[in-house]
Amino acid sequence: NLTANIAGFNFDHILLNAAGVVCQTSDELDSVLASDYTGAVVTKSATPSLRPGNVSPRYHELTNGLGTINSMGLPNEGFAYYMDYVTQKQTDKPIFFSVAGLSKQENLDMLHKIEESKFNGLVELNLSCPNVPGKPQTAYDFETTEEILTEVFSFFTKPLGVKLPPYFDIVHFDNIANILNKFPLAFVNAINSIGNGLVIDEETDTVVIKPKGGFGGVGGPIVKATALANVRALRQRLSPTIKMIGTGGVTSGRDVYEHVLCGADLVEVGSQLAIEGISVFERLEKELTAILTEKGYNSLDEVRGQLKII
Ligand code: DHB
Repeated sequence: NLTANIAGFNFDHILLNAAGVVCQTSDELDSVLASDYTGAVVTKSATPSLRPGNVSPRYHELTNGLGTINSMGLPNEGFAYYMDYVTQKQTDKPIFFSVAGLSKQENLDMLHKIEESKFNGLVELNLSCPNVPGKPQTAYDFETTEEILTEVFSFFTKPLGVKLPPYFDIVHFDNIANILNKFPLAFVNAINSIGNGLVIDEETDTVVIKPKGGFGGVGGPIVKATALANVRALRQRLSPTIKMIGTGGVTSGRDVYEHVLCGADLVEVGSQLAIEGISVFERLEKELTAILTEKGYNSLDEVRGQLKII
């Protein structure tokens, strides 16, 4: 039994894409929904208008297999495109509509439109994009985060969660959880990429991506320990009514299993989906099932949050 429930939505599989990966166009979104091994799909984070994103090269896979770096710069088809998709798509799977306004007002404007629409899925408010020059990762500013959520929940009634950047300090886990617990959030998704890493090409001694002088969001195996720490630390601090989505460093069924041990209800795949394609979901679910069988578990409910300490 590899299922989950968030805000009354049933997920028949726990895996889905991470926002930004294989989800910019309707064909890409369709391909995630069409997999027999995904429980849902999340859209590319929408901005009010279409954006071409940053200059290329803007995505790079490390040659040692340790991860990826990107500075896409929020290329997306614009809010109306995704609104059309999520309200017209016929599917049994829940859809997460990700929005990433470049200001509080842009977020509020998009959320007002979603509130007034017939959209009946979940919203993921992205407070953690590191790649727009001049725009900080919102959720590193606790005051602004609380202010945005206060305004959002003054009118928004549909299921909504937030996508967070990674935190690296216990006091920061305490602070962000205290703020999030003040709101009726459906879920919290940790983590976005580790922002503003730097990767250097060994042959040429140059950066590997062009935007921002080479600085970009890091994903893949090198972020797994940080991702697990964030899922675990937030699960320990957040109200039980707030579900957790675990994202970061998932390349194997074992990685999925560890996210669930830390408390994840759903698990998202970013870098490895970009590298491997849609078939990654079948491989990961089969690897996860083999682990559960070997350990004698019948359901993920027996595993979720059950990390042991020594
Ligand atoms: C982009 C990257 C992110 O990590 C994010 O949350 C939103 C957008 C991007 O560069 O497109």
